[in-house]
Amino acid sequence: MQKKYGMRILLLVLTSLLFVLVSCGGESDSTNETGSDTNKEEQKKLIAGTDATYAPMESMDKNGEIVGIDIDIVNAIAKAADFEVEFKNIGWEPLFPAVDNDEVDFAVSSITITDKREESFDFTEPYYVANQIILVPEDSDIKEFADLKDRKVSAQINTTGHIVIQDLLGKTSKNIVAAETMPFAIEEMLNGNAEASVGDNSTINEYIKNNPDVKAKAIEDDSFEKEYYGLMVKKENTEVLELLNEGIEKIKESGELEEITGIAVE
Ligand code: ARG
Repeated sequence: MQKKYGMRILLLVLTSLLFVLVSCGGESDSTNETGSDTNKEEQKKLIAGTDATYAPMESMDKNGEIVGIDIDIVNAIAKAADFEVEFKNIGWEPLFPAVDNDEVDFAVSSITITDKREESFDFTEPYYVANQIILVPEDSDIKEFADLKDRKVSAQINTTGHIVIQDLLGKTSKNIVAAETMPFAIEEMLNGNAEASVGDNSTINEYIKNNPDVKAKAIEDDSFEKEYYGLMVKKENTEVLELLNEGIEKIKESGELEEITGIAVE
């Protein structure tokens, strides 16, 4: 009798314990549900890698923030295509492997869409048009690109500026001074280690504008082809590519892209 009674109590305790456990679980479930119901569906977040040494396109401001025309463009694209974006300063050369090994979801860095790069990466629709330009000391006798043939010329390594010089001087020419960043390439010229520096017009013109005391001038040359900037993603990352293209299309249509850059593309 005693034993049976004890068993009943034990059963009762166990059942109520089970009930408490089940209802607790239920409760927390329903909290989650209400939680996600009230919050808007979570926005997709993409990491954008860049080389923030390329004012006015991408550079670091005094507070260590990445700013520039490219950054404004990507922020507008993100808003138009409804995703969140975070910028990471990776550097120029490491940027390409960073896209490949998923350290970043895409790269924005004034990257010219070239056939060679398209073999290894996918690019969005073009969003900016640029061309090469030559920076020389003010008293230089250099008048056009062909004059650089037997001179020492600097450029940022593995940029389209570097490539046009290689085409003129020869791929392995000792006269090519390849620097890690464009500001370093310009410094090589100012130090006298190079007689000219070749880079994108956006950046070289900005350099001249920001350094009125530096005795240097820019030379345009018709032989330079138009270059189109694109955002770069890992090959076959169609999800990110489509999202970025959707944003680009929207800000082209709305006129926002032209408002940011002051340049019409296409
Ligand atoms: N447009 C040139 C290229 O693609 C130069 C880009 C350099 N960009 C930079 N952020 N350093 O080769």
